[in-house]
Amino acid sequence: MIERLEDIKKQAENELRNAVDEVTLHNVKARFLGRKGIITEVLKGMRDVPQSERPRIGQAINEVKEFIEGLFEARLREIKEERKRHILLTEKVDVTLPGKGTRLGNKHPITQVMEEIVGIFERMGFEIAEGPEVELDYYNFEALNIPRDHPARDMQDTFYISDDVVLRTHTSPVQIRVMEKQKPPIKVIAPGKVYRCDSDVSHTPMFHQVEGLLVDERVTFSDLKGVLTQFARLLFGSHIKVRFRPSFFPFTEPSAEVDIECVICAGKGCRVCKNSGWLEILGCGMVDPEVFRSVQYDPQRYRGFAFGLGVERITMLKFGINDIRLFFENDIRFLKQFL
Ligand code: FA5
Ligand code: MG
Repeated sequence: MIERLEDIKKQAENELRNAVDEVTLHNVKARFLGRKGIITEVLKGMRDVPQSERPRIGQAINEVKEFIEGLFEARLREIKEERKRHILLTEKVDVTLPGKGTRLGNKHPITQVMEEIVGIFERMGFEIAEGPEVELDYYNFEALNIPRDHPARDMQDTFYISDDVVLRTHTSPVQIRVMEKQKPPIKVIAPGKVYRCDSDVSHTPMFHQVEGLLVDERVTFSDLKGVLTQFARLLFGSHIKVRFRPSFFPFTEPSAEVDIECVICAGKGCRVCKNSGWLEILGCGMVDPEVFRSVQYDPQRYRGFAFGLGVERITMLKFGINDIRLFFENDIRFLKQFL
């Protein structure tokens, strides 16, 4: 019996020491000390032990039980310690390392200038109007006095979706959409994206325009000059040189284009201004009576002026950027200069 107990003790010690996790450790303990465990089995054998031997054997059994319990507790503490040490080692955080920080973005320069332009006209009392980028040929051309087969269609290289549907080549179709819905007086601007089959240092296939339309009973060309000159001064500073150059648009008569002295070369002539010293920023004119007829306005009664400006061109002038394609390359080194 005593020998058997010695064996049990050795076996338990061995197994407890080899247990590396809590679950195994608890299982070992249960196998020896549990209700159906090895020690219980041994206790059952006490029946066969002579009366005189029983106290000695009983004591020996208790000693083995205590030994196993003691060793179990000790191993449990060790295993918990080891786990804690492991966690501390593998999950340690070096609080002295520099933080990662969140980089803040900023508005794209085109968005910034677009908002500035819109803000100037809003302060002059213009309201904002919108129209679709995928537009009917009718609004983009026909209602603006540009019939099919008219040579003026060649002025704007168009992306066609189908025979009757185009990507709008300018924001002017919004003029028609507004006039169809409202009666004069009208005083709106229409900012948005436009598309043309066009690509070089100052032209991209997608760019932004802001359209302006003012219609009332007594509107003159000097109102147009006044509004646009004031606009240029508010945007570029009161020193800016502006010129109105006679031009042609099928939907305005008379028509003009507004140029601003090239700020890249200060009027001396460079790649961007094609050596003219001037950069065209917008087209404008008095609304053609034909356009009023297409929206059932009485051309005898109403006068109006309209303009359409290129936002990329103006942004290049404002920041001295010499290649329009930089706006669309998404190079963070370029974009983060416009905070
Ligand atoms: C027009 O688009 C007329 N709708 C403007 C207008 C409106 C005239 C109302 C009269 C009354 P134009 O094609 O010139 O006109 O374009 C206007 C401006 O858009 C140009 O001055 C230029 O600044 C800009 N622009 C034209 N093509 C491009 C392009 N491919 N990339 C960037 N900007 C462009
Ligand atoms: Mg032009």
